Amino acid sequence: MSLDAALLAIDRACTSGSVVKDLDLREVYARDQSETTPVVPEAVVRVRSTAEVAAVLAACHAHRVPITPRSGGTGRVGGAVPVPGGLVLALEGMDRIDAVEKDDLRVVVEPGVVLQDLHHAVEAEGLFYAPDPNSLESCRIGGNLACNAGGPRAFKYGVTRNWVLGLEVVTADGTVLEVGKPTAKGVTGYDLAGLVVGSEGTLAVVTRATLRLVPKPEEVATLLVFLPSQAALGDAITACLRRRVMPRCLEFLDELALDILRPKAGLAVPTSARAMLLVEVDGEAHEISRQTELVGEAMLEAGALDVLLARSEHERASLWAARRDMSHAMRRQARQKLSEDVVVPRTRIGALLDRCNALSERHGVRVATYGHAGDGNLHVNLLWDDPDDRPKVEAAIRGLMEATVELGGTLSGEHGIGVLKAPYLPLEQSPALIDLQERIKGVFDPRGVLNPGKIFPAGARKFHGAC
Ligand code: LAC
Ligand code: ZN
Repeated sequence: MSLDAALLAIDRACTSGSVVKDLDLREVYARDQSETTPVVPEAVVRVRSTAEVAAVLAACHAHRVPITPRSGGTGRVGGAVPVPGGLVLALEGMDRIDAVEKDDLRVVVEPGVVLQDLHHAVEAEGLFYAPDPNSLESCRIGGNLACNAGGPRAFKYGVTRNWVLGLEVVTADGTVLEVGKPTAKGVTGYDLAGLVVGSEGTLAVVTRATLRLVPKPEEVATLLVFLPSQAALGDAITACLRRRVMPRCLEFLDELALDILRPKAGLAVPTSARAMLLVEVDGEAHEISRQTELVGEAMLEAGALDVLLARSEHERASLWAARRDMSHAMRRQARQKLSEDVVVPRTRIGALLDRCNALSERHGVRVATYGHAGDGNLHVNLLWDDPDDRPKVEAAIRGLMEATVELGGTLSGEHGIGVLKAPYLPLEQSPALIDLQERIKGVFDPRGVLNPGKIFPAGARKFHGAC
């Protein structure tokens, strides 16, 4: 490995000032929004074009220097945390929305585009891009693609991968490729776009994405469903689906999450409520009142205490602001927090909540849950104050991962495996499956320079000390 030789080649190939070595700035790129131990990179390379990305990766490949791509840095599992001796490839400067192609129902974007800017740009044309992770004001498309981000609207509209048509990517040795198809359909060859999306920046760097759009739903209605206990959740979801209504969001908040939301909700939350569902339906104006009625009936039949309709755009906005801030608000509930994003089949969500309660009692750790209940995807937060309690927390997390797999679920619904969940991968995947994926990684990145230390337990241990 020759860092100096790589940096010299990068400096020559990129616009002057692209390579940043100031410690203050390198420290900003040492962490993401997770509890992963920060690692200060040797330098940050701020790229502006596909040609620069290709030159930087080619130099890292030639000189065997590890490099970690990063767009918004809002990840929750350490995916954008570099490795010791490595560089960060900062993509936030590639932030152009090239074209909203209205009649082809697609948009072409660079990886540094902030998700909310994309929403605004396409909605101004009467179109809609559904993925909406709650960090949408600051997360960027590159990270959304790397993690296959979801969000509340995934229940009806699917996750990022379902909105990708074609990608321009650069592999670890600097080769530029077009994967997927920019057309509405296309089955020629392997679906490499599907493989790159969700690969957490370990296979290739996306430099341009063609994303699918649909017409923007004409109207939206938001309902608050108050439940007497979290045990009522499973029945409430099933009752709603049996009425053949497909809300775009079915978001759950447990008692602590509801307490956090209560003062900010802008609506009267009954004191007897112990849990809540935030349900949103969308569609043509004439369908909305019928859908709202059906959801209300289903929820009351399933034992809800009350169902309220957010009447104004202002009420909707304050509810969603409180929901979108939930992860940060949870963090303020204790000195330490670790958060998981496990998924089970939606009919087993009640069983998952029971297992969370049992783990909380057994290990003496406070557990609070909220999340995308319609998808069976819960954010399980472990909260504690005393640093000596960490082993109890680790035991509870392992128990949660085991319970999730036993219930037919998966370790991560939207945040990815990164560094923090890598130790648990063998609970879900067989040695043969992990080995196959490591070999795929080797085909894309034979020298192991592109975002090493992520997803796979051995790499996470070697580079990040993950246990
Ligand atoms: C949320 C993030 C943490 O749903 O995924 O709030
Ligand atoms: Zn989420």
